[in-house]
Amino acid sequence: MAIEHTFSIIKPDATRRNLTGKINSVIEEAGLRIVAQKRVRLTREQAEGFYAVHKERSFFGELVDFMVSGPVVVQVLEGENAVAKYREVMGATNPANAEEGTIRKLFAESIEANSVHGSDSLENAAIEVAYFFAQTDIVG
Ligand code: CMP
Repeated sequence: MAIEHTFSIIKPDATRRNLTGKINSVIEEAGLRIVAQKRVRLTREQAEGFYAVHKERSFFGELVDFMVSGPVVVQVLEGENAVAKYREVMGATNPANAEEGTIRKLFAESIEANSVHGSDSLENAAIEVAYFFAQTDIVG
């Protein structure tokens, strides 16, 4: 299996509850390495651009409002099969359907306030990483 990079966001519901360290522990326990990380306040333009694929969805406006409601932590995670691995570690989008031990089962409040985002493909991972980080920010 190849070493991959995937992109992660610790969302405002989680930073508000001071859960960054607990979520990072789950990530690291799963064997993923945090090779870049910064805490930022997204602008509305950044949030709209990041979630542009969802702009026709009924929940788009609420999703953007939520993502700008507090600080987020953006991260690059490295590991074998990191894209699929992190999706496993996050659990289902809706925490009601998430497996025991996953980040969303442990911490998410709702389908919207679901504590973390992770890339859904290697191609999107590269796009999402580049949205927030320069190659020189990534220290493996
Ligand atoms: P994420 O993995 O960041 O990708 C898109 C986000 O939209 C998703 O996590 C949820 O936070 C949010 N989302 C997805 N489906 C819904 C929904 N039905 N209602 C509200 N928010 C949703």
